[in-house]
Amino acid sequence: MAAKAPSPLTVVLLAAGMGTRMRSRRIKLLHDVAGRPMVRWVAETAAAVRPDRMIAVVGHQADDVRAALDGVCPEFVVQEHQLGTGHAVRVALDAARPGKRGTLVILNGDLPTLRMTTLRALLARHRRSQAVLTFLTADLDDPTGYGRVTRDDRGAVRRIVEHRDADAAVRRVREINVGIYCAEVGVLQPAVRALRADNSQGEYYLTDAVHALIDRGVKVEGLRHADALEILGVNTRAELAQATRTLYLRKAAALMEAGVTIVDPDSARIDPRARIGRDTIVHPGVQIEGPCVVGADCLIYPGCRIVNCTIGDGAVIRDHSVLTDSVIGARAEIGPFAHLRPGNELAERVKIGNFVELKKSRLHAGVKANHLSYLGDADVGEGSNVGAGTITCNYDGTAKHRTVLGRGVFVGSDTQLVAPVRVGDGAYIGAGTTVTDDVPGGALAVSRTRQTNIEGWVARRRAKLAAQSAGRTKISKG
Ligand code: UD1
Ligand code: CA
Repeated sequence: MAAKAPSPLTVVLLAAGMGTRMRSRRIKLLHDVAGRPMVRWVAETAAAVRPDRMIAVVGHQADDVRAALDGVCPEFVVQEHQLGTGHAVRVALDAARPGKRGTLVILNGDLPTLRMTTLRALLARHRRSQAVLTFLTADLDDPTGYGRVTRDDRGAVRRIVEHRDADAAVRRVREINVGIYCAEVGVLQPAVRALRADNSQGEYYLTDAVHALIDRGVKVEGLRHADALEILGVNTRAELAQATRTLYLRKAAALMEAGVTIVDPDSARIDPRARIGRDTIVHPGVQIEGPCVVGADCLIYPGCRIVNCTIGDGAVIRDHSVLTDSVIGARAEIGPFAHLRPGNELAERVKIGNFVELKKSRLHAGVKANHLSYLGDADVGEGSNVGAGTITCNYDGTAKHRTVLGRGVFVGSDTQLVAPVRVGDGAYIGAGTTVTDDVPGGALAVSRTRQTNIEGWVARRRAKLAAQSAGRTKISKG
């Protein structure tokens, strides 16, 4: 027989349940996995099959789920009472009216590690075969809690039995129902409408609709998937950690494949959205969050946390630096122990040393601030040198003000720049100066008091103290 013509494709994402085994006030699907809510991962994977429509069934904390799916899932249906997976599908189909012709992809929202390729393969198989429903199964070492798939002697699916409804023999079955289904809507919709809640949980089981189809003699297929880790549903915090680990390891593997050195893939946490160039070396315990772009030939030393940053080629980020929402130029050197708060733009070859904090500052090429400084709302011209302990006093208690330094400025150590203030090109600022007025280009600004030396002062003081102490001893003896 010819393959089925592609029919309209609708994804139904089941996202209304609470997930009580997390023991959380937040619903399970909103918990973070590798930088984004669990349910968003599933939705993005589903989007990869290019459905004509995607509908999320929401209930608990519906507004938060909507927000978590912003930009990826366009349609939402509210399931007021969570009466089971079958009920959720029924509510979705009744509201969305997908018509009689068309294919559904139904997925549980708790499958963050599901791969696009797996979903595509399931759909392709469903379209190729003459099955009216095709669902994914897997063999688990510990199938506790899952619905078990029983088959007849010829391997055809007979039943999906929920753990709670299963007897001892069925509980020994290791093949489980993953919670991902492809089905012809014209056949499934009447079956979910006819569901009854006559089971141990008093729920409308989607799996009972599968049984109804089997009993009618139409073709239902259970497609076994080999990689059990990939289709592990998240029900507990332990499984949340496992899923997070899976996604980070997958990312590390992809980066290594592309020519990035990940010294210890077990401890690198690199956001799956991040991009890293060739021959960059990522040391242990590095956390890269958000859609960061890191260039080629960079060195990222242990314990750095880099959030939403763009880093140019050949940059070096030394140990335990924290970089947020900033742009770092090629061959810049940052850290150790540097803190870049949001909004910085560092040009090429900028050097930021230990215990330097930056915020909303723009540092032009070759600027150096190597020790113990705070530069906030500052603009520092090319090649300027900011001495140890320099502080921009950018906040007057009411408003923030900018500090603008020209090119080739030399800022002596322990300088305070009281903003708003400007320092012209090539100016020098003497160590210990409090700059309150603009400094013209080429000038030297010094505001500290002149030093006085008092000759012989130490010896005189010592003699005086010794005399006092002798006097006290006499009195106490007398
Ligand atoms: C379901 C399957 C089980 C399978 C398991 C895989 C049924 C009856 N059982 O089990 O065979 O092994 O998934 O994880 O389908 N949801 C709603 N509305 C509801 C109930 C659930 O939207 O009224 C959503 C949940 O948010 C979740 C998904 O459906 O995303 C699955 O719900 P869950 O309670 O985890 O499924 P189980 O009953 O454990
Ligand atoms: Ca489940």
